[in-house]
Amino acid sequence: MVRIIASRQAVLTVRLASGDLVVTVRNIRRHGRFVKARFPLMAGNWKMHGDHLQAVAQVQKLASALSAKDFDCSEVAVLPPFTSLRGVQTLVDGDKLRIAYGAQDLSPHDSGAYTGEVSGPMLAELGCRYVLAGHFEVRQSGQHVAYTLGQLDGSLDGVPAPAVASLVIAYEPVWAIGTGEVATAEDAQEAASAIRSQISVVHGPETAGSVRILYGGSVKVSNIAPIMAQPDVDGALVGGASLDAGQFAQICRYRELSVS
Ligand code: PGA
Repeated sequence: MVRIIASRQAVLTVRLASGDLVVTVRNIRRHGRFVKARFPLMAGNWKMHGDHLQAVAQVQKLASALSAKDFDCSEVAVLPPFTSLRGVQTLVDGDKLRIAYGAQDLSPHDSGAYTGEVSGPMLAELGCRYVLAGHFEVRQSGQHVAYTLGQLDGSLDGVPAPAVASLVIAYEPVWAIGTGEVATAEDAQEAASAIRSQISVVHGPETAGSVRILYGGSVKVSNIAPIMAQPDVDGALVGGASLDAGQFAQICRYRELSVS
């Protein structure tokens, strides 16, 4: 599965169909190779777990388990259910926490008679920095990398390069989601590198160098370090293990864990 995680910048850019936003994080390309200068993102996808009170308690625990140094090394984000977003916003703003947050879905429409939908502008008003904007499944076959890239092209078709540069793309093998089976670090790197190369072909090397690519699928404290050591993997989309603030904090501190 590949999920496109749109940052607020990208959502607004796509919505306004303007290519005039300045991309602030620039990456350096030396001797034809990308230097990993992208700021890692560790995102906790809480799915449909917990009410708003539990979400607030979770964010408080996470914030106290992480130090200023941890936040200097990685961006930490949580994606709670819609019903928890306002509570998380109040806490993050009130306590000036360095935790970003976002939603798990959004409507393609800005407003109107769409029962049950929630729009990008509504999420932006709540201070959401990210949203899981879409996903598609990759069939398991010998051609799965080629299939992934075809689907990726379809998803990004018509999106201007500056917006693509500020997207986050999560590669998650379907068989690894929620199963306890994790991809090898080499497989995660192979998929991330193929995604980056394809973006380079379609949107140019600078865009490809800026886009952050995450691995997702049964990420845990015991497997995160070698995955994060891969040059094209810029972070993780963590499901089950992000529901425990202590475990998620350890995952965010992957630098302190042994790679082997
Ligand atoms: P998991 O979920 O970490 O529980 O496998 C990953 C996801 O679906 O984002």
